[in-house]
Amino acid sequence: MKGLILSGGKGTRLYPLTYTKAKQLIPVANKPVLFRVIEAIRDAGISEIGIVVGDTAAEIRDAVGPGDQWGVEITYIQQSAPLGLAHAVKESQSFLQRERFVMFLGDNCLEGGISPLIEQFGQSEWNAQIVLTAVPDPTQFGVAELDAQGQIIRLVEKPKEPKSNLALVGIYMFDQHIWEAVDAIKPSWRGELEITDAIQYLVEHGYRVFPYIHRGWWIDTGKKTDMLDANRLILEELTHTITGFVDRDSQVSGKVTIEAGAQIINSVVRGPAIIGEHTRIVNSYVGPFTSIYHHCRVEDSEIEHSIVLENSEIVDIPHRVEDSLVGRNVKIHRSPIKPKAYKMMLGDNSDVGIL
Ligand code: TTP
Repeated sequence: MKGLILSGGKGTRLYPLTYTKAKQLIPVANKPVLFRVIEAIRDAGISEIGIVVGDTAAEIRDAVGPGDQWGVEITYIQQSAPLGLAHAVKESQSFLQRERFVMFLGDNCLEGGISPLIEQFGQSEWNAQIVLTAVPDPTQFGVAELDAQGQIIRLVEKPKEPKSNLALVGIYMFDQHIWEAVDAIKPSWRGELEITDAIQYLVEHGYRVFPYIHRGWWIDTGKKTDMLDANRLILEELTHTITGFVDRDSQVSGKVTIEAGAQIINSVVRGPAIIGEHTRIVNSYVGPFTSIYHHCRVEDSEIEHSIVLENSEIVDIPHRVEDSLVGRNVKIHRSPIKPKAYKMMLGDNSDVGIL
């Protein structure tokens, strides 16, 4: 089996962060979501992985490379334009050829990996298998309708009256019949070739499409709140280690990782939290569910339930920073302008002055 990761797209829901950075490279618990996807596929025993890239191709190639660091072989597939998930599959045909494959959206996070579902599909004669999970509000998702035998009969995007609570997770498995489907379908009202239409085609043409019901958590990290949720869940799961320096005046408690070269000086860090390489936390409080990436500085400030990207500084802030996603090279410091609350989503290279 081969793996296909979709890492093109536009990332409009994470603007302004994704004006300057591929959303799949935004770190969750200090590791880009895309790296977590590669690891999940590798851990399921797949070593040939194609990554579909778009406008951010150069940045993704730079960050991921040929795949040696994971012991896999990566092939980059340039999508001519972000014209939908089925379009991305269509443009990957020369890489996939007639092999069975798993397709994973490069911005999705899933608890517990994908080994069980790859094993099930690998042993089956099914033409496609799609991963579903029970959600509280199916009207916000692509929803599957199943028959009495458990086979998929219909997929409906954001149904007003959902026939089940089973939403499509961004992981799909196909055999070579998908080529017939992606060639046959037409663009949707939003001008994209939809993967749900391709799967519906398979169902309507008598191919066997089965669900795999995923029981852990699953997050599509398309928006800020989703990134913070994924960060919280992954920080809880991680095996934490302290490699960096903690001085005698600091208190570190709970599940905390302090990476190499990081320094905690006269501060309190309460886990789950992760402090990246060469980051300095000085006279500060870092609260639960916070990930601070490498080469940052937090000084005379408090931060909780937030993600901070590389090379950013939060200095001398009188109120606690919460529920925030801070981009790269951002500086937050005191200034005479007066905001009442700090709830931020800051793009790379922002410079925010705070009273
Ligand atoms: P989406 O999140 O559905 O789309 P998007 O990346 O354009 O983001 P937004 O809705 O915020 O504008 O895409 C899911 C994944 O698939 C994501 O990793 C990007 C990738 N993708 C492609 O590779 N090619 C495409 O044509 C599209 C639409 C998405």
